[in-house]
Amino acid sequence: GRLVVLVSGTGSNLAALLAAHDDPAFGARVVGVVSDRPGVRALDIARDAGVPTAVVSLKDFPDRAAWDVGIAEAMAVFAPDLVVEAGFMKILGAPSLERFGGRIVNTHPALLPSFPGAHGVRDALAYGVKVTGCSVIVIDEGVDSGPILAQEAVPVLPDDDEESLHERIKVVERRLLVDCVGRIAREGLRVDGRTAVIGG
Ligand code: GRF
Repeated sequence: GRLVVLVSGTGSNLAALLAAHDDPAFGARVVGVVSDRPGVRALDIARDAGVPTAVVSLKDFPDRAAWDVGIAEAMAVFAPDLVVEAGFMKILGAPSLERFGGRIVNTHPALLPSFPGAHGVRDALAYGVKVTGCSVIVIDEGVDSGPILAQEAVPVLPDDDEESLHERIKVVERRLLVDCVGRIAREGLRVDGRTAVIGG
């Protein structure tokens, strides 16, 4: 299967996918990386791995609607079977969902539907939960509202700050994301309302 990975930042989830795709048994290859921000470390990771990249920055478009079309077209160039949002910090619009709907997965550093949005770790900490975690979901038009594919719990420790908690979550998150993507590549993904099933 052909994977396109959407990134905005550090790229540790991308690095984990790139480490996995070297094994032919994984069933998928990262064929392109698309970033909404220039100069991020995730782009260096892609280039170092010899994977083609594209930057689709909001400031290069007249408005958000034009960017929505631009990012969908940038993805389409790579003809993906599956799109993976790995630390991608924007919400995809209708053009992307029309083309790739039901084939876009996202990883989120909280146990959805708790703490959606850009600050899932900070919000969980501020709320005072004792257990949080990560979620792999299929994207819909909402913010972290799509059907849940997989989740794993991570304890909040008494002296955690946002950074320490996020790092502990990310260790689990990378493993869960890579596992889900590989299983989707090998077994397929079926979405029916709020139910997302790998294989079957
Ligand atoms: C991940 O925790 C992701 O869920 C969150 O930002 C982090 C991205 O990490 N939204 P990286 O860029 O893959 O290292």
